Amino acid sequence: MIKQAIIPLAGLGTRLLPLTSVFAKELLPINGKPGIEYILDECIEAGIKEIIFIISKKKEMIKRYFYNDQFYKKIIKRKKDQRIIKEYKKILKYKKMIKFVYQDKPLGTGDAVLKTKKYINDKFFLMLLPDDLIIKKNCSKSMIKINTRYKCSVMASMRVNKKSVSRWGIYKLGKKLNKENYFIKNVIEKPSISNAPSNQAVIGRYILPKSIFSKLSKQKPGKGGEIHITDAIQSLIYEDNKFIAHSFSGKYLDCGSMQGYIKSTLEIAKL
Ligand code: UTP
Repeated sequence: MIKQAIIPLAGLGTRLLPLTSVFAKELLPINGKPGIEYILDECIEAGIKEIIFIISKKKEMIKRYFYNDQFYKKIIKRKKDQRIIKEYKKILKYKKMIKFVYQDKPLGTGDAVLKTKKYINDKFFLMLLPDDLIIKKNCSKSMIKINTRYKCSVMASMRVNKKSVSRWGIYKLGKKLNKENYFIKNVIEKPSISNAPSNQAVIGRYILPKSIFSKLSKQKPGKGGEIHITDAIQSLIYEDNKFIAHSFSGKYLDCGSMQGYIKSTLEIAKL
């Protein structure tokens, strides 16, 4: 069973400027709860025991959110407010599971993943992108089950509008395992409409093999000058490592753009 998860949080969040010029988007409330807590709850429910946050100096606000004990202790002593005590206990529970590593420059998701190399113990680990919320069904839990059964990597997949393929990582699918799962032949980062092999897009949940670190350490920057995790995945697939695309049944919410963030808040409020 997979016990470790990593969460890259060191990006600049330019789509949510000007808010992100002073604020970590992952702490923005979605129906009263910071977005990152939905991701943490998904991990905990999926049986994850340790979570590695990749942050930067600019995102230290996230670390402070979990390490504000003196402040809570003082307030609780003074006010004895049950709501605050409950919230503090929840934060302590999260804190116990989280390790922080730093990515000094936002060189890309692949570079962020590489920073966790010395902390990963088992053959496979989970990665969640915090902009991508998946509600109603725990996607990580379903993917861990698939990994346990097929002993290979798994990535979340969703059909997107054909006209929007150039915004996503797009799969070329191979053999069908069953209605929800296909072997992946290839992943292409943000293809043009004419080059896209399908309209099945990569969504931010990945079960990756430890062997990805050796690929990442040799990887050159790709599209937009960034080190993309999808390029390392592609090299592993070329070397015949098995990757499964899992069409999840939960509902996807994009919290990385302002329009998406507002829509996500409304959707979650309806639950
Ligand atoms: P994105 O590139 O999609 O988002 O990274 P971003 O950089 O946060 O925001 P925009 O695109 O400028 O609006 C996907 C995830 O990978 C992390 C981001 O924090 C985000 O969670 N990331 C990205 C890193 O940790 N390091 C990087 O160098 C790049």
